[in-house]
This record gives sequence, structure tokens and C-alpha cells, in this order.
Amino acid sequence: MDLLKLRTLLLLSTSSFLLFVAITLISSRLPSPIPESAVAGKLVWQKHNCISCHTLFGNGGYEADDMTNITTKETSSYLIDYLVQPPVMRPNKYTHHPALNKVDAENLVNYLEYVDTIPTLGWPRQQKNPVKDS
Ligand code: HEC
Repeated sequence: MDLLKLRTLLLLSTSSFLLFVAITLISSRLPSPIPESAVAGKLVWQKHNCISCHTLFGNGGYEADDMTNITTKETSSYLIDYLVQPPVMRPNKYTHHPALNKVDAENLVNYLEYVDTIPTLGWPRQQKNPVKDS
């Protein structure tokens, strides 16, 4: 009787261990759901501390617009141009928006495109008619 229980225990623990190893191996070989350029873009986002002024999913600085759905609102070529040759920031007349090189800007826009695919059920709430101060 005891021997039978021991055998069952050994069988169950060995098979669950093997299942664990198999699942770990298989999942480590699956392609990442985030495109490589988007991962590179996330690092650019972190390096330049964009979150200090902008929000993603409503988290971050309230200095400027939320970037969660920016790629729905603006074309990628507009965004890349904006980041490579940034304008002077309003209402400041001297400080330019942080500038990126072309590769960083493209990766960053890929990251923002990836962020835009994440379903958020309309969060953060978008302003219907944002009043632009000029
Ligand atoms: C010092 C604060 C600050 C930082 C840091 C900053 N931004 Fe901005 N950003 C702004 C402000 C302010 C505006 C709005 C400028 C205006 O409307 O004149 C803006 C505008 C933008 C726009 C244009 C949005 C549109 O609808 O036209 C994009 C895109 C953008 N920022 C992306 C980024 C990215 C990416 C980074 C990091 C590399 C970044 N920002 C870092 C303050 C900042």
C-alpha cells in the first residue's frame, strides 16, 4: 500500500517536472509578441525620459499629450519628422522639444504603434475638442 502511494507520488512529481521543463523550453522559443524595433523604441522612450512630460495609458507627466493612441491620430511620417526636427515647445519660445536621430525616431514610432494596438477600452479618455493654446 505505502509502496503504491510512493510510486504515484514519484510518477506525478516526475511528470509535472517534465511538463514544466517542456513548457519552459517551448515558450522560450516562441516569437516575442513585441516586434524587435518596438523593443528598441521602448529603450529610446526610456533613455530620453519621454514619460516625464507625456503619459502612456494615463501614467506619466501631464506636461504634454498622452501618447497611448498617438499613431491613430497622426501619421508615422509626421511623428518621425516631428521627433527628428522638433519645433520650439509652447509656450516656451526657446527650448526645443527633445530631438532624436532618424533610426531612434523610427523605432520609437514602432513602439508607439505597438502601444496603440493594446486594447484599453477607451482609456485614457480622449478630449473631444481639445482647446489648443497657441
Ligand atoms: C520637457 C517635456 C517633454 C519631453 C521630455 C518630451 N516631450 Fe514630447 N512634447 C512636449 C510638449 C510640451 C509637446 C507639445 C508641443 C506643442 O504643442 O507645441 C510635445 C509634443 C510631442 C509630440 C507631438 C504630438 C502631436 O500631436 O503633434 C510627440 C509625437 C512627442 N511630443 C513625443 C515625444 C517623445 C517620443 C519624447 C521622448 C523622446 C518626448 N516627446 C519628450 C513635451 C515633452
